[in-house]
Amino acid sequence: MKIETYTLNNGMELPKIGLGTFRIRPDDCEKTVSAAIQSGYRLIDTANVYMNERAVGRGVKKSGVPRNEVILASKIWCSEYKYKKAVKAIDATLSRLGTDHLDLLMLHQPFGRVEEAWTAAEEAVKAGKVRMLGVSNFDEADLEKLLGYCTVKPVLDQVECHPYCQRRSLGGYLKERGILLESWYPLGSGNAGLLGEKTVVSLAEKYGKFPVQIVLKWHTEEGYLPIPGTGNPAHAAENADIFDFSFTQEELGTLRALDKNERFFKMKRGVQKYMVFFQRMKYDKQK
Ligand SMILES: NC(=O)c1ccc[n+]([C@@H]2O[C@H](COP(=O)([O-])OP(=O)(O)OC[C@H]3O[C@@H](n4cnc5c(N)ncnc54)[C@H](OP(=O)(O)O)[C@@H]3O)[C@@H](O)[C@H]2O)c1
Repeated sequence: MKIETYTLNNGMELPKIGLGTFRIRPDDCEKTVSAAIQSGYRLIDTANVYMNERAVGRGVKKSGVPRNEVILASKIWCSEYKYKKAVKAIDATLSRLGTDHLDLLMLHQPFGRVEEAWTAAEEAVKAGKVRMLGVSNFDEADLEKLLGYCTVKPVLDQVECHPYCQRRSLGGYLKERGILLESWYPLGSGNAGLLGEKTVVSLAEKYGKFPVQIVLKWHTEEGYLPIPGTGNPAHAAENADIFDFSFTQEELGTLRALDKNERFFKMKRGVQKYMVFFQRMKYDKQK
């Protein structure tokens, strides 16, 4: 299976699709990461709060593919953004993943001491512990602030994005600044309504694909990078098998018409801003 790539604002490359691991239990995670890499995946997305970094690290080793051919991405949580805590969180991430470097480090949320965490992240880049930096859940205002002081530019912003919530305004803002939009909940978290949309189903019939593949292809045709989550190796293989067809402009138009600005993660930003700090986990207790 051949996965196409995007060239980033720092000249490095990322596959046009990666494997998500949110809510995947350690055993399934290890198995799926290993199988996905063997089937051709080269980008694996995890985070401190997913509590599966160790399993991801084991999956990478088990795959037998050399570590330097796999792009490992993880995120630190906002309760760790204070400078000294962020430095420790980055080292702890490397240790749990069982690697001497992380390819992509993201700040998981735009709340709290973002500038301190970014300083620690930039230092990790300079020290050779991290290859590139990104953000997650940042909107235009959050990015404006960050772009005002950063010396290492984020290569991407990982946000909720799918045909029901196409992020046109943020997508345009990011494109102008050479920052890639990486889509979380790319399948609408497996939403049956989205996958059963008439447009999606009829395109699946036309191209001999599954509805999930039509939705994932929509992301790459928009220039977005989807990271569908699954604990099922057969689903992972299926999800990346989307580089042998293209939509016509008219078909792309019918998929664009599905946008209704509907998010599946519904917590309001103001509430989330305070709630996220209650999320304190014993990261090193994971299997
Ligand atoms: N930065 C953030 O704040 C944030 C938030 C949420 C998620 N994320 C990242 O984004 C990734 C994707 O999000 P997500 O996993 O929550 O949602 P998703 O990818 O939109 O949907 C996952 C659901 O789709 C199903 N699925 C996947 N492939 C399938 C296939 N080929 N056929 C049928 N069903 C399929 C999965 O079930 P099966 O397991 O049965 O395949 C699962 O129920 C996460 O894993 C995580 O890495 C980031």
